[in-house]
Amino acid sequence: MSPTAADRLAERVSALRGGIAYQAYLEAREAVLRMMDLSSAQPSAYWRHELSGFEYMLDASPLLIERLRHHSFHVTGLRAYDYRPGKDAHRRRLADKLGRLREIGDERHLVPESPQLGGFGHEIEGELYNLDTLKFFEAMIALDRCGALATLASSSQRSVIWEIGAGWGGFARVLKTAVPNSTYVICDLPELYLFSGPYLRTLMPDARVRYWSGEDGDALFEDWEEIDFILVPAAGLSAITPPRLDLVVNMVSFQEMTTEQVRGYLQHALDAGAHTVYSLNRDRSGYNTELSGLRELMGEQLTLEEIVLLDEAYTSLAVKKATAESDGPRQAASLRRLARRALRASAPSPRRAGDTNSYRHIVGRPRSEPGPHAR
Ligand SMILES: C[S@@+](CC[C@H](N)C(=O)[O-])C[C@H]1O[C@@H](n2cnc3c(N)ncnc32)[C@H](O)[C@@H]1O
Repeated sequence: MSPTAADRLAERVSALRGGIAYQAYLEAREAVLRMMDLSSAQPSAYWRHELSGFEYMLDASPLLIERLRHHSFHVTGLRAYDYRPGKDAHRRRLADKLGRLREIGDERHLVPESPQLGGFGHEIEGELYNLDTLKFFEAMIALDRCGALATLASSSQRSVIWEIGAGWGGFARVLKTAVPNSTYVICDLPELYLFSGPYLRTLMPDARVRYWSGEDGDALFEDWEEIDFILVPAAGLSAITPPRLDLVVNMVSFQEMTTEQVRGYLQHALDAGAHTVYSLNRDRSGYNTELSGLRELMGEQLTLEEIVLLDEAYTSLAVKKATAESDGPRQAASLRRLARRALRASAPSPRRAGDTNSYRHIVGRPRSEPGPHAR
């Protein structure tokens, strides 16, 4: 008798259950539940609401984990649906923006979306790209422009990079790939490790990953040079006392925190001897009422430099007029409508210093030489 659909399903689920992605998920879930027990820190009201949307990730099946990236819309809002075949206008606009970024950036820093774990994007020259991919490329270009990448790459010693609010882990993969001789520390809300933990373990199977489980800084950073990723919940901040701190990264995350949280992270970064703090954020997210203003807060303790790249937000997919006009009147009208909508959501041009709604690449450096380490 040939196997039934139920037999085939059971066999497939069983095979996935033993695979690296699901095993990495189980490891992450155990760590996350432990972190939740040890955590007293409250996320912002904005993030309490977001977290409630994906409680189901605590009880994910092997089939869901096989499509993990389809669920990270909870984190950055991108949906696989928008990248399916036939979305030609959207694809053209993305390709157009990719082209503009390639003109100003170093191709070596462009890391396409991996098809693993349900990775999605428009196919361009045989690779997958989506708005997150482009955002990460933009951030790499900014880090290149301010000299941070060259400093990391030329260091003979192993670097420490600290990303605050790494979301599903996409940028951690990009930056760690560019700077392999680094220990990459992430500090995020525990539940986010249900995404980034399995993602990083599956895509970088040789990486050594350590989850915080209540230890102090000495224990957490023991043998730090042997570890690739150290994942710490916000409540474990005091244990983040690395022996050096070359770069701190925050993307689309400070803008969603409270004033107290942002001040706490910035102070901690300075106490730990941070050389450079890179931020891609608005001054405050539209729905976040608990943050005063990011640039003002960063400016309290750091000298700030803005890196201006494209004159549009990373979320925007503006379209070149020539592209629209080559497509026949109906398509062109629809493209112009889409472009107007995209432009409405993007940064106003030209941007003014006082405009608090724009995403900005900001590089902060301590006013004096990095202070003594917190350890
Ligand atoms: C919109 S996501 C951005 C994720 C990622 N940086 C990116 O750009 O793809 C915001 C991130 O900030 C994190 N976050 C929010 N409040 C936080 C807090 N108090 N401490 C650490 N991370 C926080 C969220 O958990 C999430 O990972």
